Amino acid sequence: MSTPAHVAIIMDGNGRWAKSRGLPRLAGHRAGVEALRQTVRAAPDLGVSWLTVYAFSSENWSRPRTEVNDLLGLLKMFIRRDLAELHQNGVRVRVIGEREGLQADLRALLVEAETLTAGNTSLTLVVAFNYGGRDEIVRAMRKLAGKVKTGEIGAEDITHDLVAGALDTAGMPDPDLVIRTSGEMRLSNFLLWQAAYSELAFLPCYWPDFTREQFAEALRDYAGRERRFGGLMPRRALSGGA
Ligand code: FPP
Repeated sequence: MSTPAHVAIIMDGNGRWAKSRGLPRLAGHRAGVEALRQTVRAAPDLGVSWLTVYAFSSENWSRPRTEVNDLLGLLKMFIRRDLAELHQNGVRVRVIGEREGLQADLRALLVEAETLTAGNTSLTLVVAFNYGGRDEIVRAMRKLAGKVKTGEIGAEDITHDLVAGALDTAGMPDPDLVIRTSGEMRLSNFLLWQAAYSELAFLPCYWPDFTREQFAEALRDYAGRERRFGGLMPRRALSGGA
């Protein structure tokens, strides 16, 4: 099998990375941003055209207020500092997750990043922020239920494609490969619908230690797998609908 077009990453282990060095958790998240930067630079070189990263989950609000503020601050800083380089490198930014309730300045930055980079084609970087798979599915169901209520569609018109098209990821291909660092082996509410047939890779390293070489190694491992999507014959990736 060839290179995955779409790789999604659960960037886990920033806190443990910091703890193992006697540093505050914020230092781990900062190092995590640097690892993200390197990963975004590496992706097009490695033949990946979609990269989705789990930056803040809808469950992360339960962390101490200071850590939540640190993560919100890091996302703002990442966009402010890196947007010009991302744009110059042909990266298109998309953001998935619930925006309602986010601070107005953060929302404006997300729109600015998406608008500025909308025409870029070398890589699509999808940032999952205030994102949860179940939350996304509930919001999609509400959209579709609203359409049934107004008579725009009938209940029997609801298909896989219609559901996929009502998700935040409408129009995106499903992830071929989901990578999680830090040795934990679960999806933690990430891309629940979209990862139905994704290959999974659980790497032992903490996210700040994730390098271009480990990325390339995970892609080589993926290339040796055979995907059958529930059938008997190897198949190409399924589309995300919309
Ligand atoms: C998991 O590590 C990581 C997160 C909750 C956030 C991921 C965020 C970054 C990589 C940096 C921020 C980037 C942006 C663009 C906002 P953890 O804190 O759960 O680590 P632990 O499990 O070792 O405690």
